[in-house]
Amino acid sequence: MSKEKLIDVNDLATYFHTEEGTVKAVDGVSFEIYPGETLGIVGESGCGKSVTSLSIMRLIESPPGKIENGEILFNGKDLTKLNQKQMRKIRGNDISMIFQEPMTSLNPVYTVGDQIMEAILIHKDVSKKEARQEAIDMLTKVGIPLPEQRVDEYPHQLSGGMRQRVMIAMSLSCDPQLLIADEPTTALDVTIQAQILELMNSLKRQFGMAIMMITHDLGVIAEVSDRVAVMYAGKVVEYADVKDLYGDPKHPYTWGLMYSIPHIEKDLERLEAIPGNVPNPLNFPEGCKFNTRCQFATDKCRVDEPELEEVEEGHYSACWHVDKLEEQKAKQGRG
Ligand SMILES: Nc1ncnc2c1ncn2[C@@H]1O[C@H](COP(=O)(O)OP(=O)(O)OP(=O)(O)O)[C@@H](O)[C@H]1O
Ligand code: SF4
Ligand SMILES: [Mg+2]
Repeated sequence: MSKEKLIDVNDLATYFHTEEGTVKAVDGVSFEIYPGETLGIVGESGCGKSVTSLSIMRLIESPPGKIENGEILFNGKDLTKLNQKQMRKIRGNDISMIFQEPMTSLNPVYTVGDQIMEAILIHKDVSKKEARQEAIDMLTKVGIPLPEQRVDEYPHQLSGGMRQRVMIAMSLSCDPQLLIADEPTTALDVTIQAQILELMNSLKRQFGMAIMMITHDLGVIAEVSDRVAVMYAGKVVEYADVKDLYGDPKHPYTWGLMYSIPHIEKDLERLEAIPGNVPNPLNFPEGCKFNTRCQFATDKCRVDEPELEEVEEGHYSACWHVDKLEEQKAKQGRG
């Protein structure tokens, strides 16, 4: 791709220094997102998806958290070097986030209109009246019926799906270049989930923004992403175009995830079909962190940690034994 990168994360490490020890929540993560593109980030609970996004937003609670290493270049500017005042300008103006807990992100004592208007007034030089009209327009765009009425309602008067739409409206009200959506549909039922995803795709086309879509759910990722980063235990273990990743996974973990979902559909629990548990972040295994669950693990895997390497054009995997996986795939006659 010849376009300039919108965001370029290099070797990001974010740790939490707790009484029990150091949690290396994110430990050497790199990826990039181009304008107008959707990057999916997928992985089991605790692999560092939210900490990665909160690091980009510079919203890691400190202490105990700290960005220990790496750079986050946004339009060429390193966000890790900005102070909180500079960051506030970027948040909301250029980068918006839909948080994993929508109920806690909306303030129960203000109407949804007030909350969207507040976001607009902070970032745009418009009158209150104009901001109100923009809020109504935004509610219309995200598919809220009767927006003139809804704008004066409180969050508890709306259903979960509506609240999620309000969150999306809020996060889009400043026309961001990058939208980070952390599990935006997990709490919703399947029909609403499909509607929200469709909505996000159409808004992406309309506004030309890039999206970083975080989820456990490979079905969601397949539907919305251009490229995908698969995370495991604080690292990206596979990184590729969505078609290549699904058609021909090159990491045993991704392969395990895929074949734990017989049909690529929304289903969180099925990810647990990979035998064993996610390792304790206070006590990661030596070498490849997946070695305790990997059927291809060798002694080398228990000593040396593999780095991401390009195994096919634009397709990266962090595994010593991609060849063993290929043999297994050939044996089973499936990619
Ligand atoms: N404030 C904190 N203090 C200590 N550890 C933390 C803190 N926040 C996150 N962690 C740890 O960092 C690791 C990564 O957490 P993170 O929230 O990024 O996971 P996730 O991939 O978003 O999971 P989920 O799918 O459940 O949302 C976990 O081990 C988590 O316990
Ligand atoms: S490096 Fe070894 S343990 Fe890790 S995924 Fe590859 S084969 Fe499995
Ligand atoms: Mg999370």
